[in-house]
Amino acid sequence: MKIAAIVGSIRKESLNKQLALTIKDRYTEQFELEILDIASLPFYNQDEENNPPQVVVDFKKKVSEADAVLIFTPEFNWSFPGVLKNALDWLSRVDFVLRGKAVHIAGVSGGPLGTIRAQLQLRQVLTGMRANMMHPAGNEILIGSAGQKFSDGRLTDEATLTFLDGVMEKFIAHVQTSK
Ligand code: FNR
Repeated sequence: MKIAAIVGSIRKESLNKQLALTIKDRYTEQFELEILDIASLPFYNQDEENNPPQVVVDFKKKVSEADAVLIFTPEFNWSFPGVLKNALDWLSRVDFVLRGKAVHIAGVSGGPLGTIRAQLQLRQVLTGMRANMMHPAGNEILIGSAGQKFSDGRLTDEATLTFLDGVMEKFIAHVQTSK
């Protein structure tokens, strides 16, 4: 199983990227996770959508070929970052590569609410794009007060890792049934 990861923070030490890397390392027997580059995507421009730059072509192809997509979002000003919206806008047009695709959301933030406001808005956008999202009840990966939960570039908080194991098991089942 191949899963594409889209990380909505492009800074080097991003905790959301560290969560993606934790998932990549922890579930190697279940799936292969590739973190896609969204930092080099140009701003979405409708004039270019039918003949987009090669970076956009490559990005869309990776999403299209993946069995599923995991989206990792920080919360910026009570929402998800513009760089992530830009990537989704490219994915939303012409060949609709997220339509029907199994998708789940995860998020890490410094605040106590763990990206809930960002995730609710992101879920609305993905609903409009007709992504095949797993039901959020019991499956919300909301990692707040994240400062103490990561060390050496990975998520290390045991309770959160146990919760993550349960959600990833359900997500794998979701991907298998949505193929
Ligand atoms: C933040 N942060 C933040 N946190 C939060 O819980 N709610 C918010 O609305 C915001 N707003 C916000 C805006 C901007 C511009 C920045 C840079 C930061 C804090 C944010 O959650 C924290 O920096 C995370 O660590 C960002 O994710 P990465 O970059 O570590 O993946």
